Amino acid sequence: MPDTPLTPASEPRPAARTVHAVGETSQGGSTAAASSGDARPIAAEPAAPGCKKTDPIVVADDITRSFGGNIAVDVEHVEIPRGVITALIGPNGAGKTTLFNLLSGFDKPNTGRWSFDGTRLSGIPSFKVSRLGQVRTFQLTKSLAMLSVLENMKLGAKGQRGEHFWSALWPPAWKRQDAEIEAKAMGLLEKFLLDKKKADYAAALSGGQRKLLEMARALMSDPQFVMLDEPMAGVNPALTQSLLGHIVKLKDEGMTVLFVEHDMHMVQAIADWVIVMAEGRIVAEGEPSVVMQDPAVIDAYLGSNKDRDLGEVVAEIRAGHRETDGSQGEATTASAARPAPRTTGSSQDGMTTASAARPAGTTEEDPR
Ligand SMILES: Nc1ncnc2c1ncn2[C@@H]1O[C@H](COP(=O)(O)OP(=O)(O)O)[C@@H](O)[C@H]1O
Ligand SMILES: [Mg+2]
Repeated sequence: MPDTPLTPASEPRPAARTVHAVGETSQGGSTAAASSGDARPIAAEPAAPGCKKTDPIVVADDITRSFGGNIAVDVEHVEIPRGVITALIGPNGAGKTTLFNLLSGFDKPNTGRWSFDGTRLSGIPSFKVSRLGQVRTFQLTKSLAMLSVLENMKLGAKGQRGEHFWSALWPPAWKRQDAEIEAKAMGLLEKFLLDKKKADYAAALSGGQRKLLEMARALMSDPQFVMLDEPMAGVNPALTQSLLGHIVKLKDEGMTVLFVEHDMHMVQAIADWVIVMAEGRIVAEGEPSVVMQDPAVIDAYLGSNKDRDLGEVVAEIRAGHRETDGSQGEATTASAARPAPRTTGSSQDGMTTASAARPAGTTEEDPR
């Protein structure tokens, strides 16, 4: 792997933002700061890549994953704080989705070990991970197109008696539970403004609606830890506000959230903690307001575009870099801003590059 052009935050800073005790309700939104004596800082040591947290829900060590010669993830140590909203940001190709896939059991790393809520997860398949209370959504949605919206939702419930062969043949064994599951599904669909679509095939939904369906379905299993890969991408701007509200609510209900997002406004609005990846590594961590001031992060993602959508900025940086390829250009910014010079040319890379070019919240999802 080439040397990363982004340097880790060189001067560790104290991590002042705080986490609420389990079950305690935050004061809303990003300012989940301490209002009572119970509040503890998120980090147990100065904020820096891989810093220890006071109460981590996920702890991962030496995670690597390569595709051919391309090292997609190379994370020495990372801890995800419990009970708060953590944003995972970084240029396209940084390894965010691959890290999601590894932590949730959808892919296997070349090396590494990690635990969720104290349980070692290495080698545990995704369906078991989700039973343990860790669920995720996909950057490219994975709803079952030829099932109805309601059926998709009902599949998300755990411990369904009717799924066993013999009891499936005897409706009294599962009818009541099925009705409860349906009521729960309808409640969530209402929250996500999908209740009127309950009988439609999932295939008939827009990309944004499929994102909402996937998030709602993830909640059917009453998870502890929700991982959302670009939940806002492709969602109609009119719905993004309520989606942000839903994510904050998850925290208020005691869940831990890790989400990937390109739009810095959204990150600033709801994240309590930010982890920055570039070229497979974690290059910065901290409170949103502090991380956004980190010179490495600013150079790489924001530059003078602090108030613009990160996806647009990254796409421009990439395009500019291609034009001036080989030259150093404006030394510091150009070198720091060179996001992940990947050479695989895989379709996934093409996809993520394309997604970088769109302003968040406006484009439809790949119909895969
Ligand atoms: N299945 C795959 N096969 C080959 N390369 C992959 C695959 N998945 C991811 N990659 C590569 O790994 C790198 C990280 O990709 P990804 O995790 O999707 O980044 P991000 O989500 O941060 O945009 C990219 O260079 C991408 O092309
Ligand atoms: Mg991704």
